Amino acid sequence: MAGAAEMMPGPSDLGPVMAEAGLETGVLGLRMSGVPLASIADAMGTPTYVYSADVIERRYHALDQALAGVPHRICFAVKSNSNLGVLRVLRDCGAGADLVSGGELKRALAAGFAPEHIVFSGVGKSRAELRLAAESALGHVNVESLEELQRLGEVANELGAEVRVGIRVNPDVTAETHPYISTGQGGIKFGVPADQVLKAVEIIKKNPRLKLSCIAMHLGSQLVDATPYAEGIARLLKLIAEVRAAGAHDLDSVDIGGGLGIRYAGDPGIDLEKYSAAVVTPLRPLGLTVYVEPGRYLVGSAGVLLTEVMYRKHSGGKDFVIVDAAMNDLLRPSLYRAWHGIVEVTPKGRAVKPVDVVGPICETGDFLALGRPMPEVEPGERLAILGAGAYGFVMSSNYNTRGRAAEVLIRDGGWHVVRPREDVEELFRTEAVDPFTPTTVGKPK
Ligand SMILES: Cc1ncc(COP(=O)(O)O)c(C=O)c1O
Repeated sequence: MAGAAEMMPGPSDLGPVMAEAGLETGVLGLRMSGVPLASIADAMGTPTYVYSADVIERRYHALDQALAGVPHRICFAVKSNSNLGVLRVLRDCGAGADLVSGGELKRALAAGFAPEHIVFSGVGKSRAELRLAAESALGHVNVESLEELQRLGEVANELGAEVRVGIRVNPDVTAETHPYISTGQGGIKFGVPADQVLKAVEIIKKNPRLKLSCIAMHLGSQLVDATPYAEGIARLLKLIAEVRAAGAHDLDSVDIGGGLGIRYAGDPGIDLEKYSAAVVTPLRPLGLTVYVEPGRYLVGSAGVLLTEVMYRKHSGGKDFVIVDAAMNDLLRPSLYRAWHGIVEVTPKGRAVKPVDVVGPICETGDFLALGRPMPEVEPGERLAILGAGAYGFVMSSNYNTRGRAAEVLIRDGGWHVVRPREDVEELFRTEAVDPFTPTTVGKPK
């Protein structure tokens, strides 16, 4: 049955999800942080991502408050939403940045983050990326294997640069979330296994260019329970004692990763009070700066994807609503069976019945919702897909040669285009239409 296929049950009342997103319904239809979404859809067309700076700021300050009991730095996980306008909002709040590629490093610098407030994570950083990191004098570079650490040492020596290193440990803690985004248990690709950490310390001690500044972990994404943080921190504390005993005297920070879950459906998301207790109480006595790397928590609720209903059809005993957003715009439902609330931009109080909300892409897996109770919306009406601010646009693609959606940022009652819709001709402008001409044929060496 289609409805049963979705991982999370939908709530009958989306009120709490909408409140967290700064969404209200009034005479002008659905408004986000005071701005009618219909007016944005009229001006920009659809699909269009809309983010609220007010909501992002509110989330940042709530987390900042939860961590007030320890010296800390909130490094926004740029992978979750790398739009420069969004990055600037977070930088202005005082955030640092957490990155996983050289491309993200260039973005973070372009958005104005101070290099010393940047953490570079990632399981497979290339030599060129390590070089860029070393040249940029980042807050720390989190290594994920002994070989990567050796390579970082070589790069530091070549450049004559001092590099602050974090060892991202695999704490072997299993957090309850989708298996694709669970990253802290043993037997997966992330982190240095605990029994190799002292070897890493020895490598660092032998290279005067490397300073072991941080012990790090990241447990996974969309964690709604604080218990795994407490378990992971307990393991980090043991390792920190061991690495200090092994002579790591430059250690000044501990990085507990991101992963704080948000409310998509009935689940309330992480409880900040419980998170604070799990984090602050055990870490305070260490006297280290606590780094956190949240992405989804800061921006997930702050974004919606606007889409327009194109057609309806009844087939095989089911009703379909075909919209102009697709899996290339928002991959999460197809990839993880993730559940996103979908609401009308101009509610009309109609009866609901279950439908599959699907996009125009030529894949049966191209759906945004399955068996979802929805009002009987007509072609031309707009819908808002909630909780689309994190891992939305950044995971979008040009599949089926579709230009990626426009992005808009709401601030102080006004809205601004922070990325225009992609022009389809631009997508293939650099491709060779006649690849076998003498100038374009590659020659064997
Ligand atoms: C190393 C690291 N830090 C932070 C994050 C951000 O996670 P989230 O958006 O769930 O907070 C991720 C996400 O996969 C990650 O891999």
